[in-house]
Amino acid sequence: MIKAVVTGNYPDGFNIARGVNAEVIGITEKVFPDGEQYVRLEEPDKVRDSTILVISTMYPMQDQSLLKLLILADALARNQAREFIGVIPYLAYSRQDKVFMPGEPVSASTVLRILKSAGYSRLVVVDFHSNSLLSDFKPYLVNILVSDLLVKAVVDKLDKPVILAPDKGALERARFAAESIGLDYDYLVKSRDRVTGAVSYAPREASVEGRDVVIVDDIISTGGTIAEASRILLKQGARRIFVAASHGLMIGNALSRIMDAGVQRIILANTLSARLEHPLVEYVDISSRIASVLRELIQA
Ligand code: R5P
Repeated sequence: MIKAVVTGNYPDGFNIARGVNAEVIGITEKVFPDGEQYVRLEEPDKVRDSTILVISTMYPMQDQSLLKLLILADALARNQAREFIGVIPYLAYSRQDKVFMPGEPVSASTVLRILKSAGYSRLVVVDFHSNSLLSDFKPYLVNILVSDLLVKAVVDKLDKPVILAPDKGALERARFAAESIGLDYDYLVKSRDRVTGAVSYAPREASVEGRDVVIVDDIISTGGTIAEASRILLKQGARRIFVAASHGLMIGNALSRIMDAGVQRIILANTLSARLEHPLVEYVDISSRIASVLRELIQA
């Protein structure tokens, strides 16, 4: 029988555990007065010789979440788990996936290597940002695309829909959603100032005139990418703009920035422990997609 540990910051993880009929092993989590973390497997005997799914997420409090995954791995290894698989829908640090400016680290690779050396036999993630690291860490890193599920949540409301990638890096997930549903897709060409973070777009006519557009992206952080892309698409004659993103970090005034740019609705996946309550924001539960990938992985 498959077993699971679900960390307290990701209650939606229980849906994933149910989806694979996993027995959940409880954990105690606390923070010491000095800020250091503590975890304990409540039934350590149940771990021995078993495959354990460690279901968690890494936003917010990315660094603490990473450390929790590491100390949990230590507890699982000490209690002789046969294997443990990290199921981490949002894997933090994925955007620093290359050296953009001399002297920088590749933080995404650091995080992956740390988790691997802690003993995680596989990492199952959702809509991982970096295509280059996905290929470097294949087959260790299992990436699940969900853009089709997000677009399906809104597609019935759309007139002459087209899926739009806000940059070339997002093309794969835009194509995936478009082809799964049978829609057209297009893209814009974005660049970002590496010091200020400001987003700008190269001139490019996308095929959006008179059509409803769904911008598909992996992460919404400050909202700059979506706001800028929406303005350009509306200028190019798009009828209405919808947004489908896997990880809605929605930092600071991201929501108002996006709404001010004319976006009608934002559809997000439930990959984080933070949730935004707003009438124009909708969450899609992607647990059953994750569970079905896990079932295949475990049987293979
Ligand atoms: C960048 O390549 C990512 O795919 C997202 O477009 C980006 O991280 C979004 O960040 P922000 O919302 O701050 O523009």
